[in-house]
Amino acid sequence: KKQKIAIVGATGAVGEELLNVLDELDFPVESILPLASAKSVGSEVEFKGKAYKVKELTENVFKENPIDIAFFSAGGSVSEKYAKFAVESGAVVIDNTSHFRMEKDVPLVVPECNPEDIKDWKKTGIIANPNCSTIQMVQVLKPLNDAFNLKRVDVSTYQAASGAGKEGMQELVEAMQSFFAFKLDEFEPQTFPYTLALNLIPQIDVFMDNDYTKEELKMVNETQKILHKNLEVSATCVRVPVLRSHSEAITMHFEKEIDVKKAKEILKKAPSVIVIDDPKNKKYPMPLMTSDTNETYVGRIRADVYDKKILHLWCVADQIRVGAATNAVRIAQKWLELKNK
Ligand code: A2P
Repeated sequence: KKQKIAIVGATGAVGEELLNVLDELDFPVESILPLASAKSVGSEVEFKGKAYKVKELTENVFKENPIDIAFFSAGGSVSEKYAKFAVESGAVVIDNTSHFRMEKDVPLVVPECNPEDIKDWKKTGIIANPNCSTIQMVQVLKPLNDAFNLKRVDVSTYQAASGAGKEGMQELVEAMQSFFAFKLDEFEPQTFPYTLALNLIPQIDVFMDNDYTKEELKMVNETQKILHKNLEVSATCVRVPVLRSHSEAITMHFEKEIDVKKAKEILKKAPSVIVIDDPKNKKYPMPLMTSDTNETYVGRIRADVYDKKILHLWCVADQIRVGAATNAVRIAQKWLELKNK
């Protein structure tokens, strides 16, 4: 059966991409209800050649326009306030924000890793989409953990501006423009804590009591919840002047010694993972190459020089798609499969 879909945050970076991905992955869509703030009322979004008028997100909008699935990507406080109205109207909420992710009864799902957790959606009516950096990492960790039993992960991220939405991408472009106008020193950042152009910022989100950032702790807690395992994880999250793909240098410590050839074979077969790893020919994934795709790319797969139980690799994925819209649509596909069983 075709589904009636609401997109909360339809004018945002993830909202717009959701429409593209629903179309590309051939999701059975009956209609689209694009929702945003009052300032966007009057604008339109297009899906399969049909225009839909953006409506204001209100407490009653779901009652007045019954839907089957509501994708939320308008920020945590919007989900906190409005998700319940979508659930009360009978819809399932697929939430992109961090608001519900760590709630015990809310499944946190990457369909390539823990699709079975979706069955608990009825407890709250909400399924949470993980943090963008977590999604691409667990897609790589899961198959290797199954084969070699993972003990610990150390990761450094190189995160694109798109993680801060359209405003983040806009701010990076403007900062670069001011560099070419010889005015970078006058640039005043609004979205990022410092100027991002020609810079790196080792802070994403706020600092917590243990001096890790909230983004770094998301990678710890969410990875453990998705893999159902008390894995040791330590992350350093860095914002870099890239538009829309996150990169990660991942070091994995296993219980057993690693056969690198076998690890490569496992990753080649892993769902939604593409291996590009040919160092002699300078082949490895990079952000410009992975933008606008639905897969997670892996390269630079290599054994540790000292310890055969340690493996290192490089992982890149489109933040707006893999890290948000594509994962959300794949959750919706699995949810629909389960519901129709
Ligand atoms: P609007 O454009 O009307 O402000 P991004 O992640 O790219 O910054 O996009 C955020 C999305 O969330 C936009 O579609 C934005 O709509 C929407 N949004 C932000 N705050 C609210 C709100 N209070 N109510 C409804 N939609 C909101």
